[in-house]
Amino acid sequence: MTDGTPGPVLALRGIHKQFGGIPVLRDVRLDLYPGEIHALMGQNGAGKSTLIKVLTGVLPSSGGEMRLEGQPIRPASPLDAQKLGISTVYQEVNLCPNLSVAENVFAGRYPRCGAVQGFRIDWAAVNRRAEELLARIGWTST
Ligand SMILES: Nc1ncnc2c1ncn2[C@@H]1O[C@H](COP(=O)(O)OP(=O)(O)OP(=O)(O)O)[C@@H](O)[C@H]1O
Ligand SMILES: [Mg+2]
Repeated sequence: MTDGTPGPVLALRGIHKQFGGIPVLRDVRLDLYPGEIHALMGQNGAGKSTLIKVLTGVLPSSGGEMRLEGQPIRPASPLDAQKLGISTVYQEVNLCPNLSVAENVFAGRYPRCGAVQGFRIDWAAVNRRAEELLARIGWTST
């Protein structure tokens, strides 16, 4: 920005989404600035989840533009979005009961190690970092 004011971290412009020809999102505009927390509110079926799914690569938009720190983005999958630093915690419980707590915490983003960078999962780091994170919210495994 020319006046030195930081621009939005995330900017959505004219986002459209339709299912089977029925519009659900119409011309959505949203700016998120650094340090801000927003609540997206609306009645059941208003399109909140659909907007988040478009933003996080679960669904393609039917039109519009998303910019992250000024750069156009079009995440094609949740992993794509994660790599851009956009993560989602869904309201529905979606833990994997067959995985450990630490595995659930880092699912899809395991710390890696090994001679070939990123080849092996660094299980020691997975467990240590999970303990650190859980300690921050007052939970210990002992
Ligand atoms: N995959 C889909 N195919 C067809 N229609 C869909 C699909 N997903 C959502 N819809 C429809 O789009 C509209 C918006 O749904 P959405 O789930 O985004 O609303 P919401 O604001 O998250 O609602 P809630 O408060 O119930 O979570 C609803 O009419 C819903 O039935
Ligand atoms: Mg919803």
